[in-house]
Amino acid sequence: MKVLVLGAGGQVGRALAAALPDAVALTRAQLDLTDPGGADRAGVDWAAFDAVVNAAAYTDVDGAETAGRVAAWRTNATGPARLAELARTHGFTLVHFSTEYVFDGTWPGPVPEDAPPAPLGAYGASKAAGDLAVACTPAHYLVRPTWVVGDGRNFVRTMLGLAARGIEPTVVADQIGRPTFAADLADAVVHLLRTGAPHGTYHLTGGGEPASWAEVARATYGLAGHADLRVTDTTTEAYFADKPHAARRPLNSVLDLTRIEHVGVRPPDWRDRLAEYVRRG
Ligand SMILES: NC(=O)c1ccc[n+]([C@@H]2O[C@H](COP(=O)([O-])OP(=O)(O)OC[C@H]3O[C@@H](n4cnc5c(N)ncnc54)[C@H](OP(=O)(O)O)[C@@H]3O)[C@@H](O)[C@H]2O)c1
Repeated sequence: MKVLVLGAGGQVGRALAAALPDAVALTRAQLDLTDPGGADRAGVDWAAFDAVVNAAAYTDVDGAETAGRVAAWRTNATGPARLAELARTHGFTLVHFSTEYVFDGTWPGPVPEDAPPAPLGAYGASKAAGDLAVACTPAHYLVRPTWVVGDGRNFVRTMLGLAARGIEPTVVADQIGRPTFAADLADAVVHLLRTGAPHGTYHLTGGGEPASWAEVARATYGLAGHADLRVTDTTTEAYFADKPHAARRPLNSVLDLTRIEHVGVRPPDWRDRLAEYVRRG
């Protein structure tokens, strides 16, 4: 199977490039999704690929509310819509990533794939628009992770940096979810493609018991040998009270994993994967 990975410099893109060593993997510098002539200049022959995996995204949730709004829409909505059209024209399978930010976080319990989108902010709205475009292609996998942790900037890395400096952070305790390790997400994509699982939307996060960001921070501090440092709980409302331009966050980010489990993916417990991540440094 010939695979093209876009956004190969990001957390998920790097994991995909590692999981698919024979794939053509292009970073933003090599192909900018918002540049309509970029693919021709990069010499991309869309017809040569069986699958295109798009890991490129504008992921600055707060930036999308202000200066990044146009970039978010161009990257997260217009870009995937163009890929969807190319998928229909050239017949490749399109793999794309969604986010829990397309939901408003009020679903009672684990959120299923067909819950109604109701984004609270510009990032979520731009991603929801991209989701709709991708879902209109006959052959697509729309994979929805939460709280991604990989090789790049992420919450766990931030906590490890704070812990190393002896800082005792205050962290929100009313947003509940499960981290998704980028390598597990990449493995799930490989599984969907290799097994030819039914097309459609799949939730994929770490398994195990959901937790708050504060609990993830506490677990990270403990695993890094800094259990002596205190992580103080706060609420989302209090944390963002002095940040008027921050995006609103969904409180319930726990996604229902039943559908992807039915096609043979067993999401590892996020606590085990966190321990490995911290151990590797
Ligand atoms: N991170 C999370 O917690 C999270 C949670 C849920 C869902 N997701 C979704 O998971 C997917 C992967 O996210 P990630 O965590 O890997 O994000 P990431 O680490 O921020 O990587 C995104 C990559 O996309 C690139 N990019 C941005 N604009 C581009 C453009 N116009 N053309 C080509 N590439 C572009 C970025 O390049 P630069 O660095 O040069 O800008 C970066 O390499 C995204 O669809 C995201 O919405 C992420």
